[in-house]
Amino acid sequence: MTDKTAQLFDLDAVRNQRTAKANRAKGEEFLDLFWPDDGPFVRPAYEEPPPEPRSERGRKQTHVTEDCVMNTQYTPIASAYVAIKDDDPADRVAIFPTFYEACGDVRGKSVLELCCGEGRAGRGLLVRGARHVVGVDENPSMLALARERQVANTDYRQLTVGKMGQIGLFDLIVGPWTLHYSMSELELFAMFRDVAVNLKPGGLFVGLNEDPQRPFGGTERIGSTSHPAGDPLVDGCPVTVTIYGNGESAAFRTYHWFLGTYRAAARAAGLELSIIPFRITAEGRTEMGDDWCREFEANICSCVFVCRHIQT
Ligand SMILES: C[S@@+](CC[C@H](N)C(=O)[O-])C[C@H]1O[C@@H](n2cnc3c(N)ncnc32)[C@H](O)[C@@H]1O
Repeated sequence: MTDKTAQLFDLDAVRNQRTAKANRAKGEEFLDLFWPDDGPFVRPAYEEPPPEPRSERGRKQTHVTEDCVMNTQYTPIASAYVAIKDDDPADRVAIFPTFYEACGDVRGKSVLELCCGEGRAGRGLLVRGARHVVGVDENPSMLALARERQVANTDYRQLTVGKMGQIGLFDLIVGPWTLHYSMSELELFAMFRDVAVNLKPGGLFVGLNEDPQRPFGGTERIGSTSHPAGDPLVDGCPVTVTIYGNGESAAFRTYHWFLGTYRAAARAAGLELSIIPFRITAEGRTEMGDDWCREFEANICSCVFVCRHIQT
């Protein structure tokens, strides 16, 4: 981590504490807006979110350029993204092993894969015994790559998470790199709500995500870097993520949300959010060596998100 990033990270932690109270209040605001009953958990019917309120802190940053509209930003990098990810040591020795462990025993389970891209997580879950996977992604180029690699018991659909509503009821929903594409708090809430309405009672959501507590950093050697492309102390700060491997790199845009904002949006959708750090496997430690493992642990700026319905 550079000095500058460390400084940003410290400020981030300080601000997180400062805003924890405000974010709790924000959660209540969400609940009033979208889930007015205090009664037992009732899945909210899907409807278009109302126009976005201006926040008192001017939080929303809307200066998003054309190429950052999520439906299009993956089109020019789809092949490079997949080629890099096909042979990504961090994915192989830490990120996906931790993700699959968090999914638990998936044998016989129905799975919804959000932001499936070319569908690698869903195929991994089928190998582990899942019964069926529905993959959704809004980008046609990524879906075309998924269809090239399609195996039995998978369906792919072009849908936008946050706007899709209920398409079924699933035992397990996975979102490998999903929630941090939200460009506003309402969009974040709408994504969590799409999780809540498609998840069976007692079901589990497992996502890969920016780590809200260490959102910036990374190194080329561990396969990814994340840099703020706006004010890092502002909720919704645009982030430039670059992935490296296979002799090339590919950059794309995500958005940084504070932990309290993630928690408030999840709670408003009827979900409880917890975070799991990545763990490098024993074989991975041998394969990659101590230096690489130390660098990964000190710099990785993503993590696993786990959600369940709030119990009433
Ligand atoms: C970093 S890629 C991850 C792909 C795949 N999950 C993986 O692990 O390789 C992010 C994917 O999310 C998709 N995406 C971003 N926002 C989305 C949204 N709101 N609804 C559906 N797909 C979205 C993009 O099109 C892209 O394919």
